[in-house]
Amino acid sequence: MAILSLDNLIVQLETILEPLKLAELFPLEQPLEVELGCGDASFLAEYARQNPAKNFIGVERLLGRIQKLDRKGRRLGLTNTRGVRIESAYFMQYLLRPHSAAAVHVYFPDPWPKKKHRHHRLINEQFPALARAALVPGGTVFLRTDDTDYFQQMNEVFDAAKEFEKVATPPALAEITTDFERDFNAQGIPTLRAAYRNLK
Ligand SMILES: C[S@@+](CC[C@H](N)C(=O)[O-])C[C@H]1O[C@@H](n2cnc3c(N)ncnc32)[C@H](O)[C@@H]1O
Repeated sequence: MAILSLDNLIVQLETILEPLKLAELFPLEQPLEVELGCGDASFLAEYARQNPAKNFIGVERLLGRIQKLDRKGRRLGLTNTRGVRIESAYFMQYLLRPHSAAAVHVYFPDPWPKKKHRHHRLINEQFPALARAALVPGGTVFLRTDDTDYFQQMNEVFDAAKEFEKVATPPALAEITTDFERDFNAQGIPTLRAAYRNLK
C-alpha cells in the first residue's frame, strides 16, 4: 500500500511486487499520464500545472532529480502529480496497472551512442509491447530526442508495431520543453519528436 501524502510528492513504495493503487496516490480519479526518465521535472511540473484535470506520475531513477519533482510540484501546489524513484521498464511492467495510462511521455532518454551499449536503450524492440500493456485503447506514446540514430530506432520499432499508428504531437504539448531540450535547442540542436497512438 502507498500512502497519499501531499507533503512529499515522491511515492513511498511499500512494495514493488504489486501494481500501484492509483486511488491511494491522488485525491481525484482522473486520466493518468506517465513520464519516464522525467529528470528535473521541468516538463512534468509545467504540463501538470496546465492540466489539472489529469493525474501524472514521473518516473526517475536518480534521487536528486526526483527530489526536484517534489520541490517543483509542491512549490506549484500540484495535487495531481507524483514521482516514483525506480527503473522505467520495471515501472511499466510491474507497477503500472495494465491499460491505465492515457499517455506515456519519453523525452531525451539516454541515447547510449556506442554500438556496444545500445542494448541499454529504453526504446527498443520490446518497448512497444510494454507501452501497449500500459496504455488505454487510444492512448499515445510521445517521444523526443536530439539523437538522430536513436530517433531512427524509435521510429523503426513503433512503425513495426502494428498496434500503433503514427500521429502528430499537439502543438500545445510540443511547446512545453524539458530541461535537456532547452540546453540542446540553445546549442542549435533541434528536437526530433514522434508520437504513436495505440489502436486497440
Ligand atoms: C538525458 S536525461 C533527460 C531528462 C528529461 N527527460 C529531460 O529531457 O530533461 C535522462 C533521464 O532519464 C533517467 N533515466 C535513465 N535511464 C533510466 C531508467 N532506466 N529508469 C528511470 N530513469 C532513467 C536519468 O536519470 C535522467 O534523469
